[in-house]
Amino acid sequence: MSTLITGIGELTTNAPDGPLHDAAVVLEGERFAWIGPARSAPAADDQVDIGGRAALPGWVDSHTHLVFAGDRTAEFEARMAGQPYRAGGIATTVAATRSASDEQLSANLRRHVIEAYRQGTTCLETKTGYGLSVPDEARSARIAAAIADEVTYLGAHLVPPGADAETYVDLVCGDMLDAVAPHVRWADVFCETGAFDEDQSDRVLRAAAARGLGLRVHGNQLGTGPGVQLAVRHGAASVDHCTYLTDADVEALAASDTVATVLPACDLSTRQPLAPARALLDAGATVALATNANPGSSYTTSMAYCVATAVLQMGLSIAEAVYAATAAGAKALRRDDVGVVEVGARADLQVLDAPSATHIAYRPGVPLTLAVWRSGQRIPTAEWPNVTG
Ligand code: NIG
Repeated sequence: MSTLITGIGELTTNAPDGPLHDAAVVLEGERFAWIGPARSAPAADDQVDIGGRAALPGWVDSHTHLVFAGDRTAEFEARMAGQPYRAGGIATTVAATRSASDEQLSANLRRHVIEAYRQGTTCLETKTGYGLSVPDEARSARIAAAIADEVTYLGAHLVPPGADAETYVDLVCGDMLDAVAPHVRWADVFCETGAFDEDQSDRVLRAAAARGLGLRVHGNQLGTGPGVQLAVRHGAASVDHCTYLTDADVEALAASDTVATVLPACDLSTRQPLAPARALLDAGATVALATNANPGSSYTTSMAYCVATAVLQMGLSIAEAVYAATAAGAKALRRDDVGVVEVGARADLQVLDAPSATHIAYRPGVPLTLAVWRSGQRIPTAEWPNVTG
């Protein structure tokens, strides 16, 4: 089964030569089979004319925490009234998550993933980290693996209340790792004052690497610290947050293959400064944008909101922000089959009800996603309009 999407006024492909105009693409099965000028498009089984609108790769959301139950509205309200965010609320979500059934966790994850798809996300990573016991982490990993594109083990999210930190790190590196490993590709550690220190984080990363997992780090979210340097030293695919960086951190990232993933929705929701994405790009680092969707520090699945914020408040151009939310997100997951529109890549495409991607920042907050294809399949969007004309 093939589908020709034609009448594309602006097609962002993420190729170095910039967007195409008056373009068309052919999706065949799960892949892009043809990309080029609309006037020379081949025939296909099915045809959709998007009437001069903009199309771009589906968003790659490389950082979410969506295996959870419960609600933290009260914590958010307290924060907006001046309480600082200290990550202690993770324990509230852990208690709610442990009390939920598998079916409830699964349904909640699915609901949020569909919410993300309808807004143009087509590749989504999610994490464990609200279980923090061997059975609860293992079931979180199993549930996530059935729904998300990429799954990360975050047993090292917080030392559970009442536990001894060193004993808990032994568990994270031992029995818990054994239990989750069949379901996950990645391991992560929250290297931050109040969570895991440098030595503990180093142990977690070593154990995960020895088990063959790829590495990610939550670093430099609430203050400067060793997270970024640790991630770079371990060759982690990504270090996420990067809100408080020293010049040495920026230089280390620029000289490495570790992607700096910034999470502006989280910075805003926790009343932190926005991560220095402009300085990272200027230094030569790869910067990805992700939502950090979770019930505590960043309860949004909107990549468009992150892109608009990156442009309006972080000094990125629209092209840089779109790249960060697509191709660079793919790099943060060490994938080259998503985040780009090229022949052979996964047929993940979003159509905006707008003539150019610039409108994502020019019209912030407006739900512009009109149609989404993921792996060549059209995702039912809210309006399900006929996009012709
Ligand atoms: O990325 N930093 C640690 N973990 C999450 C917060 C999760 C929560 O507050 O529930 C984050 O912001």
